[in-house]
Amino acid sequence: MMIKHMLALASLLLGCLAVTGAEASADEEIRQPAARGDHIESLLRQMTLEEKVGQLTQAAGGRSKNLNSKLTAEELDRVRAGRVGSYLHVAGAEPLRELQRVAVEESRLKIPLLFAMDVVHGYRTIFPVPLAITASWDPEQWETTARISAREAASSGLHWTFAPMVDITRDPRWGRVVEGSGEDPYLGSIMAAAQVRGYQGEDLAAADTVMAATKHFGAYGAPTGGRDYGSADISERSLHETYLPPFHAATTAGTGSYMTAFNDIAGRPTTANADLVNGTLRSKWGFDGMIVSDWNAIAELMNHGIATTRSEAGALAISAGVDMDMMSLVYADDLPAAVASNPVLLQHLDNAVRNVLKAKQKLGLFDDPFIYHDTAKEAAMMRAQDHIDAARRVAVRSIVMLKNDHAILPLAGTKRRIAVIGSLATDRQSQLGSWRARGDKAEVISLLDGIKAGASKGTVVHHAAGIDADNPDALKDAVALANDSDIVILVTGEDYDLSGEARSRSDISLPRDQQRLADAILAVDKPVIVALTGGRPLAVPGLAEKADAILMTWFLGNQAGPALADVIFGKAAPGGKLPISFPRATGQVPYSYGEYPSGRPADPDPAKDTNRYSDLPITPLYPFGHGLSYGDIELSNLELGSPTMDGSTPIEISATLTNNGKLAGDETVQLYLRDRHSTIAQPQKILRGFKRLSLKPQEKKTVSFTLTSDQLAFYGPDGKWRSEAGMFDVMVGSSAETIVLTGAFELTETVESEVPAAAIATGVTVQ
Ligand code: NOJ
Repeated sequence: MMIKHMLALASLLLGCLAVTGAEASADEEIRQPAARGDHIESLLRQMTLEEKVGQLTQAAGGRSKNLNSKLTAEELDRVRAGRVGSYLHVAGAEPLRELQRVAVEESRLKIPLLFAMDVVHGYRTIFPVPLAITASWDPEQWETTARISAREAASSGLHWTFAPMVDITRDPRWGRVVEGSGEDPYLGSIMAAAQVRGYQGEDLAAADTVMAATKHFGAYGAPTGGRDYGSADISERSLHETYLPPFHAATTAGTGSYMTAFNDIAGRPTTANADLVNGTLRSKWGFDGMIVSDWNAIAELMNHGIATTRSEAGALAISAGVDMDMMSLVYADDLPAAVASNPVLLQHLDNAVRNVLKAKQKLGLFDDPFIYHDTAKEAAMMRAQDHIDAARRVAVRSIVMLKNDHAILPLAGTKRRIAVIGSLATDRQSQLGSWRARGDKAEVISLLDGIKAGASKGTVVHHAAGIDADNPDALKDAVALANDSDIVILVTGEDYDLSGEARSRSDISLPRDQQRLADAILAVDKPVIVALTGGRPLAVPGLAEKADAILMTWFLGNQAGPALADVIFGKAAPGGKLPISFPRATGQVPYSYGEYPSGRPADPDPAKDTNRYSDLPITPLYPFGHGLSYGDIELSNLELGSPTMDGSTPIEISATLTNNGKLAGDETVQLYLRDRHSTIAQPQKILRGFKRLSLKPQEKKTVSFTLTSDQLAFYGPDGKWRSEAGMFDVMVGSSAETIVLTGAFELTETVESEVPAAAIATGVTVQ
């Protein structure tokens, strides 16, 4: 089928070559390998307006069903005519080679195409969802995931991924919480930089790296009510202190591109916000790469009510600094009219074309447009054994043990009857999570299969779905199985389709049928270990009260089952920590550990009039940074290198971890600060350092953090970053609510700085 198609195509192309042959030789200059700026300028001089807007146009392939559908004769004609600069949702070394060949051999200016996809947590080898990987509190896991994803994607002809997604959110109703790094800008910044390093490697032009598109620039993670695409009606201060730092960290790490958010901030859609895009991102931060809109977002400026026509919308976006138009065709069809009536726009347009061509150049496409199209390499690369091993390791490190009463976990290796209960235990699709790229559910090892394979000899594992539309007795059968077993592993939570884009929920407790199942199983008098699946924090007070142990298992990717089994049977210690608070009820969100103190700080006594709900405790169900492990790790011996610091001398803060237990375990030591007094109120805690460590029984390690004064800065009402002189509390602990060690130091002078404080990485050493 494919061959027939290619032959037809070849004859079609030959015909066209005959027609365009004269032009091709006249443009010999253009075909020279060209890693030079003058080549870009020379191209720009030769381009017609239509070819310019062509470069700024990104068109879609066939989404997941037929990713190569763009190899139609009509589409190839479009490429030949220079009317497309980039394709998204396409894949495959061979078909993309053909598309590329037409661009570089048969279009007038021979400009290569840019191929993109959402490779967000894996390409063919699927890793845990992003929120889960961040729960590892280990940037190396992100770097590895991104590196392997890049290798697989690049071998399949792709140059560019729409990742990392770095939107901070404090509202888990928002479905896209699954794609990001949670609530904290410092943690989010560290993870953003790790992903950029992983995708882009040392050299963007190498055949195994892809360009990152850090997204969704702006404050996409703060939509009103948690409803996707909604307005972020937030203050300048929270924009700069909370939402923007991971974007800044990505700039510092060298991200090649950005995607702007769909939504508006206080009425200004980011896709048309020149102050934020050209101002903050490009001028202030010095970002000099390419910026792409989100899908159809330029046309949607009309829905926002800030443009009345498509051509007005195009003029706004191009003036704001948005270079490439994803899928609205506004630049292609309507920008020329805007340019005709306002020639000043031509400068913006030329700059946008420059940025697109520069990106192609950085990727090495002018030198060798075909290095990403080696089919033998593609075949060898997919799901290579080291990729699968890494997926298992990352998954193990992503699991968060929320509860472990009487050290029921790990399950010792004696003979037992284990009941695995829940339809999610066999749901392979869900383990692929929200962005599946080329992942295949047939390549997922389910939680049930992992547990069966990991159980010791002599242990029998039975499964009951508990929820089954075709079996009215499913719940009864599950209860009977639980009664007939020594121990129950209840797999419950959300399935993959409850989180992701346009998947906001007004109620983040368990779905009703899952709740019914959980209630029935928890009423059985057997020990119950819960494996909780989901792409967001869940309000599960019933589970928290009644289950003996809870493992937050998110969606863990291809190696979900083996990873869960490793933790349950003690082959590996759990050690993930929550990157976002788990609330007690939906009504408690938005929530963050780092709120301002209020004049009437929350008091546990409900009789007092303080900053709290009258019907809920003041704390979350599980706080930010929470997660248990095996072993028994103690934190001690807080030491500050000096009682004071100034603008030029960093301060050292160290603490010791000792494993007093009989099992190896992990702990992530967390360093929080509080600015005691300043001219504007400061958060009760800000995270400014962390380190995950594994300790064998009786092992001891000392962690030292090196902090600089610009990490203490806040964004003042005058738009300046400033660390005010005064006392700072130091809090070291194992979660935002479990502070074990405290101290203080004094900043002896007020210091102004340029960079968002949370985007600066703290130095960490371990001895
Ligand atoms: C819309 C999503 O918001 C964005 O994250 C994604 O990269 C694009 N679609 C392309 O798939």
